[in-house]
Amino acid sequence: MPRIDKSDSWKNLERLGQDKNLNTIEKLFSEDPTRAKRQALELNGLYLDCSRNQIDQETQALLLNICEQAHVSDQINAMFTGKKINISEQRAVLHTALRSSEKNDPNGPLDEIRKSIHANLDQMQQLTNMFRSGQLFGATGEQIDTVINIGIGGSDLGPKLVYGALKKPEDPHILFVSNIDDADLASKLQITDAARTLFIVASKTFTTAETLTNAKAALSWLCEKLKVDDQHAIKHHFVATTANPSAAKAFGIESKKIFSFWDWVGGRYSLWSAVGLPISLGLGFEEFKALLKGAEEMDLHFKSAPHDKNLPIMLALTGLWHINFRKYPTQAILPYTEKLALFPEYLQQLEMESNGKMIDRSETKIEYHTAPIIWGSRGTNFQHSFAQHLLQSPTITPCDFIAITEDAKKDTTGKALLANCLAQIEALAFGNQKQKALEEDAKPSRMIEGNRPSNIILMDELNAPSIGRLLALYEHKVFVQGLIWNINSFDQWGVELGKSLATVIGKRLGNEDAKSDRMTSNSNLIERIKMTNQRTIS
Ligand code: F6P
Repeated sequence: MPRIDKSDSWKNLERLGQDKNLNTIEKLFSEDPTRAKRQALELNGLYLDCSRNQIDQETQALLLNICEQAHVSDQINAMFTGKKINISEQRAVLHTALRSSEKNDPNGPLDEIRKSIHANLDQMQQLTNMFRSGQLFGATGEQIDTVINIGIGGSDLGPKLVYGALKKPEDPHILFVSNIDDADLASKLQITDAARTLFIVASKTFTTAETLTNAKAALSWLCEKLKVDDQHAIKHHFVATTANPSAAKAFGIESKKIFSFWDWVGGRYSLWSAVGLPISLGLGFEEFKALLKGAEEMDLHFKSAPHDKNLPIMLALTGLWHINFRKYPTQAILPYTEKLALFPEYLQQLEMESNGKMIDRSETKIEYHTAPIIWGSRGTNFQHSFAQHLLQSPTITPCDFIAITEDAKKDTTGKALLANCLAQIEALAFGNQKQKALEEDAKPSRMIEGNRPSNIILMDELNAPSIGRLLALYEHKVFVQGLIWNINSFDQWGVELGKSLATVIGKRLGNEDAKSDRMTSNSNLIERIKMTNQRTIS
């Protein structure tokens, strides 16, 4: 592919993006009072309003050109039909197949894998029904009523987000352990009855240090509490979700307790696979299916809607404008619902692990920004911490707001959530300069200049299908941006170095002789840690 940043459209966007006289958001609204409506897109109750950005028709047309030049439509087709678009690992990228129903894709290229996907779903449904009907028993014959999912990254964040967002008071307890810091596991074990607990070891590779360490610690705890041996404890209290079933077997888990998936499901895209087991156990299999259905709706829209009416594409182009042409380095994610409090963290992995890269698909270093730094928190809490920075700092941060429409009809607190959310987007876009200027004591420190970009996603309600749509929206947004930047969004080579260094350093901290051919800046720190600990021991 010719370099996208050498194209005329890219160059024109660079010029426009740095133009001192670029139309303000206020000017765009005053020139076109229908702008908010015109710039809004909707899919089955998910309403995306991108009007509060400094994007006029000329800019939008250029962004859409970029999309054409990156052959986005062909690449979408390549992904959905199972081409090996994860080129560095020679893998297809087919998490969308996990949510594709036969009726929407009859005789498609997915037919071959559909059978195994169904078998997998059946296996999940069976365990879910047993668990939720009280038919699952532990090593001492007690009913299992609690589940602890041990996993990290994609084997943790997606299921934790969805379960946390949708759990009702009567739903069973699903706990999540991820950190190698044993305080994480200990805090969950403290509130758990060993005889009634099922552990899910969730790891695509089944080699992740955090997960295996926690799984072994959980096993020792079980054996000690229940006075049973490893074999018994594993047989009655452990299942695995993994793309490496032989490693799970080597851990001692029987084949029928292994919920496997495939190498074409990326870790951060795996909640739609067996990794979603905690969602199914916690909320019910039908809820899991409803989640898949919502995501499939977004897939079908993404595949077929024209670019300028396509929610993931327009969200991606807005982000592209901000990072590449307006040069805003970060992006805030601001859900106005406690239930989506984990969403910023979930998106950090999805966006930054997928697109935080500077080598393109032909192994050449690129000269433009890729994924912004994703951060954020839930409203209204952030209004009392970093909102000041969003409104008055010289560093501008584009924001994505997410709010739930039906909250406004519930009660005063629900109305307050919506009111605060709309107040923030208004304050960011339009500030208070005009009003303040009329006041006698107008001082610059009290001026909010406005013209700060944001998108808002209004979801009619928060339920399994609507979360499915939301997550798929961002997955496809990330995909489109990766295509335009010409990077492979589906590998993560960067994280490997830290893992291998930690192994060597861990040995050196433990006084083992661990040779490394690297110059290390850490010798001093390792000495300091060892000396201090020796001193405190003696
Ligand atoms: O280290 C990064 C990563 O590989 C993520 O991509 C992944 O979601 C996470 O670790 C956990 O990996 P696994 O599911 O193989 O344990």
